[in-house]
Amino acid sequence: MNAREAFSGGVAVITGAGAGIGAGLARHASRLGMTVVLVDVDGAAVATLREELTAAGGSAIDIVCDVRDAEAVQALADTVYRDVGDVRLLVNNAGIEQFGYLWDTPVANWQRVLDINVTGVFHGIRAFLPKMMATTAPAWVWNLSSVGGVAVVPLQAPYIVSKHAVLALTECLHLEVQSAGHDHHVHIQAVLPGAVVSNIFESAGGVQSGDASAAEAQRMAMLDIKAEAMDPLAAAEAVFEQAAEGRFYLLTQPDYVGSAMAERARVLTSQAAPRLRTERRFDPAEN
Ligand SMILES: NC(=O)c1ccc[n+]([C@@H]2O[C@H](COP(=O)([O-])OP(=O)(O)OC[C@H]3O[C@@H](n4cnc5c(N)ncnc54)[C@H](O)[C@@H]3O)[C@@H](O)[C@H]2O)c1
Repeated sequence: MNAREAFSGGVAVITGAGAGIGAGLARHASRLGMTVVLVDVDGAAVATLREELTAAGGSAIDIVCDVRDAEAVQALADTVYRDVGDVRLLVNNAGIEQFGYLWDTPVANWQRVLDINVTGVFHGIRAFLPKMMATTAPAWVWNLSSVGGVAVVPLQAPYIVSKHAVLALTECLHLEVQSAGHDHHVHIQAVLPGAVVSNIFESAGGVQSGDASAAEAQRMAMLDIKAEAMDPLAAAEAVFEQAAEGRFYLLTQPDYVGSAMAERARVLTSQAAPRLRTERRFDPAEN
């Protein structure tokens, strides 16, 4: 099956759709012919994107919802099923970054990363998956992990922890859907982007006390990588095609992310301690 066959209609719900990867996925879903529900805490951003998609002949609605709020996410699911239709694609995409040494990290920043990046995904699953499993219609759930879900990176520990957690959550969920007998129509998939153009580093948290300059240096190093980052629409095309092919791990840059996965496997197999890289950015060729 290709993406046009799998995703030429139906409803797509995308959290964090106001910017970056979520906006790219929304634009591509709309191009394929899906009705797109644009969800974000940034109401202006999703309203602007809704106008763009509808002006181009697409069908889209925008809803303000904070994925940290379990009741709000449940209300979102109820509203979408009642007013828009059955959901064919749920993308738990909303996520944030955090820079700095772990010991300098404010408790509130740690909590915010885990609340949005991990618990937000859990809220999406709880609210939408039972409704998807209640029919026999084909349905897809994509959870946003990262190349950081298989790498270890100093000065980004809360984010890296969250992305490892989302990967594990998604792998467990894949097995649970099989175990409960719904895997013939419900597809659980993990998205692992490499660098994709977005606002994530600009809006990332830092540290107020301790070594703030180390935190900012890491942010700058990540912003440097942006020069080579992938266009979100191209990333979306790759993800939609791999999903339709039935892959579990959806990689925006298969060579780059695939080499990080191989490196993680090699480190675990060798049982060697993590090594500090001379370059802060991830480069599989260094090992
Ligand atoms: N951009 C990359 O290079 C990259 C790489 C790997 C993984 N990812 C993952 O992709 C996802 C999207 O990131 P992005 O880079 O497009 O970021 P982004 O900052 O450009 O967009 C994230 C969107 O999420 C929204 N958001 C933040 N908190 C929210 C909340 N509590 N509830 C609802 N919406 C909320 C923001 O308003 C924003 O519109 C994240 O999960 C991120 O970890 C990104």
